Amino acid sequence: MAWSEADAARNRELWTQTNADYTAGSAPAAWAREEMGWGIWQLPESQLRVFEGIDLEGLAVVELGCGTAYFSAWLAKRGAHPVGVDVTPAQLETARAMQEQFRLEFPLLEANAEETGLPDQSFDLALSEYGASIWCDPYRWIPEAARLLRPGGHLVFLRNSTLVILCSEDEVPAVERLVNPQFGMHRFEWPDGGVEFHLAHGEWIRLLREHGFEVEALHELQAPQDAQTHEAYDYVTADWGRKWPAEEIWRARKR
Ligand SMILES: C[S@@+](CC[C@H](N)C(=O)[O-])C[C@H]1O[C@@H](n2cnc3c(N)ncnc32)[C@H](O)[C@@H]1O
Repeated sequence: MAWSEADAARNRELWTQTNADYTAGSAPAAWAREEMGWGIWQLPESQLRVFEGIDLEGLAVVELGCGTAYFSAWLAKRGAHPVGVDVTPAQLETARAMQEQFRLEFPLLEANAEETGLPDQSFDLALSEYGASIWCDPYRWIPEAARLLRPGGHLVFLRNSTLVILCSEDEVPAVERLVNPQFGMHRFEWPDGGVEFHLAHGEWIRLLREHGFEVEALHELQAPQDAQTHEAYDYVTADWGRKWPAEEIWRARKR
């Protein structure tokens, strides 16, 4: 079995369990949100303006690692035409149940986001909110996103910051010193059983440019003054997140 297939199978197992433990239960509230919030501290899109200048009406969107598809649903409510791609059937089942509950339908595809099988140049926006952006190998999913996008299309993805990964040891919140080497960073196996992928910023820029992208923005997210450490996403404390960016959103445009 190729590495990526083994990693996808392992992550599917993790997300089947996470769906049972958490995401199936939290999906209705996520689908009901009027304002999209980014990341652990739910920073509102109206404040960050990640999609500024992108007309969502009629936009063909592929969400790579869509999970329960609340982000795609938010875009669909604003006139976009999303297709959600995910490798975990349980997550897609929850997404389908939400589509029925909220009477909002769009295609959902069970596939590895590194190799979706969708047609070339068929989307205006490729999006990943903690989907392919951390669970897929960037050397596979970035070329796939480039293939799926039309010239001029956008790529937007939210991931853990490189800095928080450098400060993360096993099973404790991020510490205030560097514990992982930056050079050579790529594939991480955490004790919870998942496989994640993280690159240094220079390598992200090199990879994006190699596949025809121009970087338009890098939003580094700061925890608000009144933020509390998240119950489920406690790999970083709110105090840490007030001092350093724990999460970041990249926006790039295909030439
Ligand atoms: C944090 S969730 C994404 C959240 C999503 N934005 C939502 O609206 O629910 C991460 C998702 O990535 C998916 N995933 C992990 N590896 C994947 C792969 N190789 N291809 C596609 N999806 C993958 C998991 O199944 C999981 O549903």
